Amino acid sequence: MPAPPSDARSLAAVCVSVTPCGDDGVILRIKTETPQPPLRAARFWMLRREDRLSPAIPRPFSLYRQEGDEMEFLIKVMGQGTKALAACTPGTKLRAIGPLGNGWPTLDGEGDPWVMLAGGIGSAPFWMGVEQALRGMDGHAPCPASKLTILYGAAKQGLLYDLEAFRTLGVRVETCTMDGSAGLKGHVLQLLEHLQAQGVLPKRVRLLACGPERMLEAVEAYARQQQLPCWLSLESMMGCGVGICNGCPVPTRPEGPLGSWSNAKCCVEGPVFSTDCITLAH
Ligand SMILES: Cc1cc2nc3c(=O)[nH]c(=O)nc-3n(C[C@H](O)[C@H](O)[C@H](O)COP(=O)(O)OP(=O)(O)OC[C@H]3O[C@@H](n4cnc5c(N)ncnc54)[C@H](O)[C@@H]3O)c2cc1C
Ligand code: FES
Repeated sequence: MPAPPSDARSLAAVCVSVTPCGDDGVILRIKTETPQPPLRAARFWMLRREDRLSPAIPRPFSLYRQEGDEMEFLIKVMGQGTKALAACTPGTKLRAIGPLGNGWPTLDGEGDPWVMLAGGIGSAPFWMGVEQALRGMDGHAPCPASKLTILYGAAKQGLLYDLEAFRTLGVRVETCTMDGSAGLKGHVLQLLEHLQAQGVLPKRVRLLACGPERMLEAVEAYARQQQLPCWLSLESMMGCGVGICNGCPVPTRPEGPLGSWSNAKCCVEGPVFSTDCITLAH
């Protein structure tokens, strides 16, 4: 039975700052009671306030950035949990459970280029992903910037959260919006095909994607059709985050490495899954 990561803890934390970001987002910076070692990009934390303003069940958020003993989360304000976090002020007491989940695969520079498909707030796990790839992961040489591309899409310009920060990473960042207010008019797969048609990106790429479920379904279908390696970071609803509540099932592919069970647990076996292992197709 998959277990939560051995480094996960329930930690007291305090809010350091909350900075508005985009039309409906914030960057929440927190400091935990014990400093964290450098954490892998696309791992996540369950967060809630210690006062009664948060729901009893903490909410999961990808680690956006880590600096010394402080961590940042890029949060789209949706309901009670995210509203409570966005309303924190410096010193607000928080509970942070983590680090949870697995994180991106090793982003090496030895094979086909990596293309990161970010949909709206799904950009959160990519900032550190690029940073870690450029530094070199798991004993691999640094991945050259020329092999890393972020395709950042959203419904409209104001939902391309913290775009300028992504542009400082030193890799190609291309944008698209459904209403045409920034970048190409259309979605991230149209942007990918557009850049391939222009010869900017080759046909053979390795895909990483994070975003709304409908986008991830389309990315999975595209990757399968084009026979491209692909990893999805899922933002399923979660209850416990540690494998107990069975609230985050993801259908597995019977012929894949996780196929001995019909569902995987997103919180402990993910949130990053290779499309060889799971399927979002209903
Ligand atoms: C591993 C993981 C990483 C995540 N990383 C981030 C992140 O970095 N930044 C971020 O803003 N969000 C992230 N999310 C999503 C975030 O957890 C939810 O937006 C949050 O739980 C909503 O809580 P709420 O109380 O504000 O909204 P609720 O009151 O719980 O819900 C409000 C509305 O949003 C819908 N909703 C809630 N959660 C989701 C979801 N996961 N997907 C689609 N619709 C949902 C509900 O159906 C409802 O309509 C992540 C989720 C997971 C599982
Ligand atoms: S969220 Fe409880 S088992 Fe995954």
